[in-house]
Amino acid sequence: MNKKSSVARQAPAPKRVGFTSGFGVLAATLGSAVGLGNIWKFPYLTGANGGAGFLLVYLLATLLVGLPVMIVEIALGREARANPISALQALAPRRQPWWLIGAAGMLAAFLILSFYSEVVAWVFAYVLKAMRGSILSSDPHVTEAAFSALIGDPLQSLLWQWGVLVFIGSILLMGVTRGIEALSKKLMPLLFLLLLLLCAVSLSLDRVVDGLAFLFKPDFSKMSAAVVLTAVGLAFFKLSVGMGTMLTYGSYFRDDQNIPVTTFCVMSADLCVSMLAGIAIFPAVFTFGFAPAAGPALVFITIPAVFSRIPMGQWLMVVFFVLAAVAATGAMLSMMEVPVVILHERFGLSRTSAILLTIVLLVFSGAACALSNSTLASFKLFGLNLFDLFDFVSSNIILPAGGIFIAVFVGWVWGRDKFRLALSNHGQLHNEKLVDVVFFLLRYVSPLLILIVMLKGLNLF
Ligand code: PHE
Repeated sequence: MNKKSSVARQAPAPKRVGFTSGFGVLAATLGSAVGLGNIWKFPYLTGANGGAGFLLVYLLATLLVGLPVMIVEIALGREARANPISALQALAPRRQPWWLIGAAGMLAAFLILSFYSEVVAWVFAYVLKAMRGSILSSDPHVTEAAFSALIGDPLQSLLWQWGVLVFIGSILLMGVTRGIEALSKKLMPLLFLLLLLLCAVSLSLDRVVDGLAFLFKPDFSKMSAAVVLTAVGLAFFKLSVGMGTMLTYGSYFRDDQNIPVTTFCVMSADLCVSMLAGIAIFPAVFTFGFAPAAGPALVFITIPAVFSRIPMGQWLMVVFFVLAAVAATGAMLSMMEVPVVILHERFGLSRTSAILLTIVLLVFSGAACALSNSTLASFKLFGLNLFDLFDFVSSNIILPAGGIFIAVFVGWVWGRDKFRLALSNHGQLHNEKLVDVVFFLLRYVSPLLILIVMLKGLNLF
């Protein structure tokens, strides 16, 4: 208790988002988890890595490593009620540099936001394209050409990205995070419904069996260490863990919130949205003759084809991309919260200056990704363009490594007693058994598993 109040004194809490009700906490955390990771990344990675085999590994990674790390990040944040760097500094023994996890998280936030904001830019551009009706077609050539034209145009790529950054920045500046939360609470169910509708259409397509078999019938022929690492990286990315986002959100959690139950609900809902996106996309991929391994373009070329099959498809597609933008906004806000709160609390910037500085930095680092399919297309490192490189390094290296260090910190330094106390809401809940299982995973299973997967996946061992 003493420790807690001294942390609060050292690092005065900024004006934080209003996680006032239990449902508000759930909505905000879900708002961070559900994003383009579900609608864009999950389908294309599943498509490129062999379907059901990948899905299975992803599920295991979510349960064995993603979920425990999410639980502990939130617990650490709530105990310290501070930004990731200050929180780890306060909770760790003196002179041990665990705060570096928070610093690495800030770096990851910039890397992820740089390419994520560009994908959101494509989503925004697609809202306009959908309104004009220019992309509604079940002909792969038409939808592929439309997408290539967009990402290959440097000016459009940059302008849309700046539009996204200004949009997100103004939401943060207006301090209406609560507004966005309230909005997401209403709009998220709509996204869910629209996905259900798309699934219904997709399930009526000719080659539905092939699509579902691809998604649900494991074939391990595509499995390799690198694919397993990608699945682990996706599990971290999906749950927004390994970089301090959940730690930051945990610092806004209510004292009486049941952390394990909340995280389990968020994980399940997040998984549902991903599965719905998969069911909406793969039957269409097979029916219309797209390539499942089309990569980042997959959603942008198949979704218009599915909508072309329904009455009012054009307008429903507008609604779909608007909702995708809303989902992405919640995720982006949570990512940006990490550098903003660190710059504010640790470096003494006002919250407004912290937001502006973050946006300016993102204009530069984001341009590297925005131009990676046009002006900078020939610039490659390790065979990857900058967009893919930022994605690879953040998802496959920084997030899993962050997960290892967080698990080791809790399992071996912070210890079982403090962990139990935090997760039982200081004795209010009787969940010792569950907490012990999570602690066991964190102490022994998660770090070793991630380490082996990383060493093998990166070909270091
Ligand atoms: N989970 C978010 C998504 O699926 C992405 C994200 C990653 C958000 C890391 C915050 C931190 O889109």
